[in-house]
This record gives sequence, C-alpha cells and structure tokens, in this order.
Amino acid sequence: MDFSDQTRILQPTPEGITEAASLLARGELVGLPTETVYGLAGDALNVDALTKIFRAKGRPTDDPLILHLAIPTEGIAKGWPEGTTARLIAQGVVAEDGLSAACRRTVDALTRTFWPGPLTLVLPRGPQVPTLATSGLDTVALRAPAHPVAQAVLRAVGEPLAAPSANRFGRISPTTAAHVVEELGGRIPAILDGGPATVGVESTVVRVASDGSLVCLRPGGLPMEVLEGALAGLSPSRLTEHPLPDRIEPSSGPMPSPGMLASHYAPTCPVVLLPDALSRLNAAALQSSLGAGALACPPGLGVGLLLQGGLGWEDQRERVRQALARFPSPAPLVACAVLAPDGALDTAARSLFGSLRSLDKDPLVHWIVAEPPARQDGLGAAIRDRLRRAAAPRPRSHEGSKPE
Ligand code: TXA
Ligand code: MG
Repeated sequence: MDFSDQTRILQPTPEGITEAASLLARGELVGLPTETVYGLAGDALNVDALTKIFRAKGRPTDDPLILHLAIPTEGIAKGWPEGTTARLIAQGVVAEDGLSAACRRTVDALTRTFWPGPLTLVLPRGPQVPTLATSGLDTVALRAPAHPVAQAVLRAVGEPLAAPSANRFGRISPTTAAHVVEELGGRIPAILDGGPATVGVESTVVRVASDGSLVCLRPGGLPMEVLEGALAGLSPSRLTEHPLPDRIEPSSGPMPSPGMLASHYAPTCPVVLLPDALSRLNAAALQSSLGAGALACPPGLGVGLLLQGGLGWEDQRERVRQALARFPSPAPLVACAVLAPDGALDTAARSLFGSLRSLDKDPLVHWIVAEPPARQDGLGAAIRDRLRRAAAPRPRSHEGSKPE
C-alpha cells in the first residue's frame, strides 16, 4: 500500500501505544523502538502482515525474521521468569520435539539472565509460527526486547511481533524514529517514537544446539564473554563463533544463518575499513591501506572519516588528513565523525549507525574511511562486524548511487 506523506509519528503515550497496537492487530506495520535498533513490526502469526514486512523492506523472503515476545508481567521486575522453555512451548512458538533436557537448561538459564535484552535465541520452530517468518527453516529466532515501549505494545497486541531492523534491505539500521522515516517513510502507516536506541547495534544471535551448546551467528549488543560467563556451570557450556561468510550473493548456497550476507549495513558511499586502530598503524601501513581504498574510489573527491575516539583522536585525524593529501590527486578530508570521544565502547556502539548515516548523507562526502575499534572484546566485536559488512564488496543489487 502507498502511504506517501501519510506515515504518522506516534508518541510513546498510552494513546500512541494503543494506536500502534490496533494497527498491528489489523495486520498493518509499525516502526517500533527497541533498545538495539528500531524494528519494522508486524503480527508474526499473520501471513499478510509478514508479506508486507518483506515488501516494505525490499527484503528477499529467504532471510528469516526475529519474533519479539512480551515478558509476562510477573517477570518484568527480575527478567524473564523461571521455566521459559515450557512457556514458549505452551505458546506454540517453540517445538517440544528435539528439545533435549540440556537444551532446555541452557534456554532457561540464558533467558533468566538476559531477557528482556539484546539476545536472540534460535530454537526449533513451534506449530504456531508461519513458515514465512522463518523462511521455511525448521528453527525460529526469538527475543524479548528490553525497551519499555516495545514491551507495552507487545502486551497490548497479545501476539508475538516479527520485527526486522526498520531499514530497507542491505542499508544502515535505524537508531532513531527520524532514521525510520528516511528508510520507510511513505511505505508504512506509522512509527512509534521511543527516543534514540540505547544499545545501538542489533541483538546477539545464537543457535542453541540440541546438546545445549551455543553457536554465535551474529555478534551484537550482548557481548560474547558475558554470554560465556553465564554458561559456566552448565554442561556442556561450549560457545562457538560462526565466522563471517565471505560469500556475498544470496544465491551462492545454504548458509548457517540466512541473511548473514557479508555486505550489509551499507551506506551508498564506498567504505574503506582500516586494518587496525590508527594508533597501531604506522605511516607506511596507513598510506598503503588508504591508497588501496583510493583505487576503488573517485580520485580527488571528499572523504568522510569515522574515528572510534579515545585519547589523541585529533592527532589521528591529522595523520589521516596528511596521508590523503599525499595522493597524486589529493583527497580532501571534508567530514569527521568521532564515535566515542570518551573512548567507551558502549558510547561507540550507540553512535555507530547514526554517524555512518550522517557521513553518507553529507553531499561533500564521496567515500568513507572507517577505523575499527582497538578492542575485540565487549561491544568491540559487534562494532567491528558491522564495519566489516559496511566495507565488504557489494552485490550489484546493493550498489549505491551517490549523486555527484
Ligand atoms: O536487535 C535486533 O535483533 C533487531 C531488533 C529490531 O530486534 N532486529 C534485527 O532483525 O536485527 P534483522 O531481521 O535485521 O536480523 C535478523 C537476523 C536475520 O538476518 C537472520 O540472519 C537471523 O537473524 N535469523 C533469523 N531467524 C533465523 C533462524 N531461524 N536461523 C538462523 N538465523 C536466523
Ligand atoms: Mg537488519
């Protein structure tokens, strides 16, 4: 349906929440705030609503959705209550078959500690879940978002909501209601404004294997070490990481987590990711990685720099400026975004997508040079992952067209 000039911004008031819930109950879509990023929500049990989600995003139907769950009111004070697995089976979202005792123990322990929050669990799909939501897979991705507005809407609707990030397919995830307008304005009837997302990167996605061990499919807002810490004492407590796939075309064969395309979160400008934090790159390494990037970028055109921040970032900006000026056709540094002047990883995660988006929108910026976080732990893993995807070679369908 065409909602040109009709996408309404709803306030997070009782009226706004009721309005959002009634649209969702009628099978319409709503831009929904969560603590990670904004989601494009629709009734997960309604195939028409699911079809609208794929259509509004321009997302292929082989890329499965995450189902968002309400936490029972008695669970709000202390996270999800005991016995989550039994509850999920009773709701028909998780299949009883194939859920070993070890798997149940893992799910109960993790949800008790981390739900509501930025953790998505991939479990055997229950009979209530339409196969369109899972792209035909016999597993389903589930999470309970921590945002109070999302929880209020979920309780009002009384059904799980499917919600991918509210960006057009392959683009930068939105962390404010205004970003959702940029992505989907005119394509959906309403966006609920719950303020800027506090985490800023999507949830950590893990598959719970039948022996209770975990496979990380996407690093995200819940750091891996924290997850590992909670597994101690459970047997088996293994957590393995699935490496970022190199392939970028959706058609190139089965993937452990469909939708985990190497190229994602892509601005329209080409992105060059430096091989290491600037403080660890000597002059020669900096010049050669910028030079390699410049080959793929228009000569002499403006560069936007994305810095992680922390002590001495101004000096690092100057080093990059001078290195760019040494090219045969010098590239001017026209904009610089500092993710976390205080050097904190959670600040950097919170500003990552908004900063990429504003550099990309700057008409003077024609390519972006991004510094990875110095640290691999904590939210550093998710930030690095998103930057790698933004910088990955793009399938033709993702190629941007930055106006000159
Ligand atoms: O934080 C988040 O997770 C946000 C907010 C809105 O909740 N949502 C989000 O959804 O990032 P989306 O659709 O952009 O990413 C979900 C990813 C899919 O691309 C897919 O790779 C993985 O989760 N996924 C979903 N169902 C899966 C399944 N059954 N098996 C493996 N991976 C699955
Ligand atoms: Mg997404």
